[in-house]
Amino acid sequence: MSQGLDDVIAAETRLSSVDGARGILVVKGFSLDQIAGRKRFEEVAHLLSEGLLDHLPDAKAFAARLGAAREAVYPLAQYIDDALLALPPMDGVRALTARIEDGEDVATALRLLAAPAVLLPAFLRRRRGLAPIPPAATAGHAADMLHMLTGEVPAPDVAGALDTYLVTVADHGLNASTFAARVVASTWSGLTSSVLAGLAALKGPLHGGAPGPIIAMLDGIGKPENAESWIEDALDRGDRLMGFGHRIYKVRDPRADALKAAVKRMSADSSALPGRLKLAEAVERAALKVLHARKPDRPLDVNVEFYTALLLEALGFPPDAFTAVFATGRTAGWIAHAREQRLTGRLIRPQSIYVGPEPAELV
Ligand code: ACO
Repeated sequence: MSQGLDDVIAAETRLSSVDGARGILVVKGFSLDQIAGRKRFEEVAHLLSEGLLDHLPDAKAFAARLGAAREAVYPLAQYIDDALLALPPMDGVRALTARIEDGEDVATALRLLAAPAVLLPAFLRRRRGLAPIPPAATAGHAADMLHMLTGEVPAPDVAGALDTYLVTVADHGLNASTFAARVVASTWSGLTSSVLAGLAALKGPLHGGAPGPIIAMLDGIGKPENAESWIEDALDRGDRLMGFGHRIYKVRDPRADALKAAVKRMSADSSALPGRLKLAEAVERAALKVLHARKPDRPLDVNVEFYTALLLEALGFPPDAFTAVFATGRTAGWIAHAREQRLTGRLIRPQSIYVGPEPAELV
C-alpha cells in the first residue's frame, strides 16, 4: 500500500507528462519552453481539449467563443454579496462557479474556462469597494483578466507575463487536483462538478495554496542577509518552506525557470520588482543550501510556486488571490482530463485495507 499513492499509475493520458528525474514537462507533444511565452493561453486550452470535446471549433473560433463565454459568465458577478466577500477569493470563485450548469459540452467547458478570469477580478474589485468591470470579448484572455482587475489596458509584456503563467500551469500530469477532477468525472457527474473538485483540491497549501505564504516569507525575511537564519529558524520550528520540494521533481521544477524568465522580462519596466527579485534569488540560494545540508538524501529544489508569487504580486494580485489565478490556468487541464476520464467510461474506485476493530461475535 502507498499512503500518498506514490508511483501508482491511475490513468493513461495524452495530455501531459512530467519527468521528475530530468525536470521536463511535456504538454501534448510540446516541451514547456516551446509553449510558455510562445503560445497564448487560448491556444493551449484549445490544444488540450482537441479530440476530447464534441464539436470543438478551430483554435481561432475557440478564442472568440472564449471571449463570448467571459461575457456570458459576467452576470454571475451579481451574486457577490457581503457574505461571499467575507470568504477568501478562492472560496468565493468556487461558490460562483458552482452556479454554472453541469454539462459535458463545449459551451459548459468554455464557461468554466472563462469563469475565474472574470469572477476573480470582479470579486477583488468589489472587496476594494469598486464596481466590477465587464469583459471585452475581443481582447486576449490574459489581457482581459488584467483589464477587469485594474481598469487599465495592460502593456503587451504585462499581459504576456500573465499569459506565460497561465500556459505554464495549464496542465501537469496527475497532480492532486487533476486526480480529484478525474475521480469526479469518472462518476459521470459533469464538467462543473469536476472543476469544483479541482478547485477544492488546489486550495490546500501543499498544492496550489503555497504562493500566498511565500510573500509572507519574503516579507518576513526582508533583506537578503537575513535569509539563511530565517530559514534555519523556520525549519527548527518544524515548518515547511513554501515554494520548495515536489512529489515528482527530484530536480528543479522547469516551470520555475519559465516564470523567473517572465518576471525578469517584466522587471525592466518596474521600479520595485528588481529589488524583490534580488531578495527572492537570495532566499532561493539560502533555502537550497540549508535544505541540502539538512536533507542530503532528498534533493529539494524550488517549485513552480516560488516565482509564481513574485509574478502575480508584480501583476497586482493580492497574495490571497494567487491560488485562484493558478486555477484560471489549471481549469484548462481539469476540463481536458475530466473529458479524457469520462471517455474511458470507467469509474475510479480503489480499495482500502481495513485496520479497524472487528465486530464482536454474535451470541
Ligand atoms: N520544506 C521543508 N521540508 C520539506 C519540504 C519543504 N518545502 N518539502 C519536503 N520536505 C521534507 C518532508 O517533510 C520530508 O521530511 P521527512 O522525511 O523528515 O518527513 C522530506 O522532505 C521528503 O519529503 P517528500 O516525501 O519528498 O515530499 P512530499 O512528496 O511528501 O511533498 C510537497 C511534496 C507537499 C510539495 C512538499 O515538498 C511541501 O510541502 N512543499 C512546500 C509546499 C509547496 O511548495 N507546495 C507547492 C507544490 S507545487 C504544486 O503543487 C503546484
